[in-house]
Amino acid sequence: MEIVIGLILLICVYVLAILYLRRLDSEIHWDWKTIDTDDLHFPDNFLWGTAMAAYQVEGGCTNNNWNEWERATDSDGRPRIRNGAVVGAACDHWNRYEDDIRLIKDLGLKAYRFSLEWSKIEPAEGQFDQAVLKHYSNVIDAILKAGIEPMITLYHFTHPIWFRQLGAFEKIENIDHFQRFCERVFNEYSDRVPKWCTINEIEVEATQSYFTGDWPPGEQDGQIMGKVMRHLLEAHVRVYRALKSLPNGEKVQIGLVKNIFQFDPWRPWHLIDQICCRLLNRVFNGGIIEFFKTGRFRLFIPGLVNVTHVNRFAISANDFIGLNYYSHLVVKFKWDPQDFFQFRLRPRETPTDMDYTIYPEGFYRALKQIGKLGLPIYVTENGIADHRDDRREHYIRRYLYALSKAIVTGSDVRGYFYWSLLDNFEWSEGYSMKFGLYKVDFESQKRVLRDGAVAYREIITRHG
Ligand code: BGC
Repeated sequence: MEIVIGLILLICVYVLAILYLRRLDSEIHWDWKTIDTDDLHFPDNFLWGTAMAAYQVEGGCTNNNWNEWERATDSDGRPRIRNGAVVGAACDHWNRYEDDIRLIKDLGLKAYRFSLEWSKIEPAEGQFDQAVLKHYSNVIDAILKAGIEPMITLYHFTHPIWFRQLGAFEKIENIDHFQRFCERVFNEYSDRVPKWCTINEIEVEATQSYFTGDWPPGEQDGQIMGKVMRHLLEAHVRVYRALKSLPNGEKVQIGLVKNIFQFDPWRPWHLIDQICCRLLNRVFNGGIIEFFKTGRFRLFIPGLVNVTHVNRFAISANDFIGLNYYSHLVVKFKWDPQDFFQFRLRPRETPTDMDYTIYPEGFYRALKQIGKLGLPIYVTENGIADHRDDRREHYIRRYLYALSKAIVTGSDVRGYFYWSLLDNFEWSEGYSMKFGLYKVDFESQKRVLRDGAVAYREIITRHG
């Protein structure tokens, strides 16, 4: 009898635990057969744009951490980048920016988010290259001349080799170097650039570079990952405050760019899948969002990471929040001490060329989650890698439907930047991923608008 009661109690506790965990932002799926994806609503003055990042498109980035990484091999002598690719001339955007701005204009877009390559601007510690500063000034003028609004990203995964040699963001004192660079370029361009993103995706940088080891410097240490997150968060707050106190500081808008990938359990009834997801969501999403809500950052996973950081200024350190959203990751726990979980693709969801699926419902969830910060939101990146171009239109229509639904139900979203204008160098995936609205032939540097991208132009025309 006691055994039966014990078992019943155990089952009750299990069911209650599952019910509790499922209450917390759980996976949703809409019945797309009943949805009209043309039923879209966007506010007046909604900012339609596209985004790129310097290293991925400019060419000639020979002095940064990624450039070193491209040439490195792992302990088995294999290249770090897929197919041993090196970035090289990329899209030669450095020289072809005027043509590319014309392409943005042809699509009817009103905004362009791009990043400044720190290693070109400050090639040696404390030495700023005037010609490079002038180049970016010309780029900004060309964007404005085309009637397009520039949005600058100050840090998009790359930093100069000298900064790497000093220990990059592993050391809190190095934030000063980053701040000096930010102040310098802000003084140059803030009279013409109304929106500034400080750091692109703290969580991606910290986890890829210091936990999975897939990105430079290839560390696999949870504690260092946590420390780098803490320093990047602190860097954002300091840079925000410093820029706000400079001329034009009060006039422009400055914000962080947060990536959200939800971690959803492969088996929603499975307590360990659920717990894995709770932990991953905490590391990747929850901890950072909480920092900007409360001023307190806490990552604690026994044996893996134990980091705390408090800075009350974080609460008011964003004029807007940038959201990069692509998909969710579905997690299945494994009894394997080498590798406790694996990522699976839900069979009901269409795959992209990256190792995740098309999941517009997650975009809606992410907008609601980031909305808890109570800030205006810009979707600073969203797009699909689709080399066959047979899913891009479907992706655009469904994700924009999810965006519209979030707005209609109260999310304060002010703009959307499609990633990316051009095919480009996709970090450790090299040139294998085709995110571009325009296909790029890297031999001839010819750009051709993809059929799947036409939907974006149509929607903008209808809702611009
Ligand atoms: C990054 C981009 C990248 C894109 C597509 C984002 O996380 O900011 O640089 O190319 O994802 O994977």
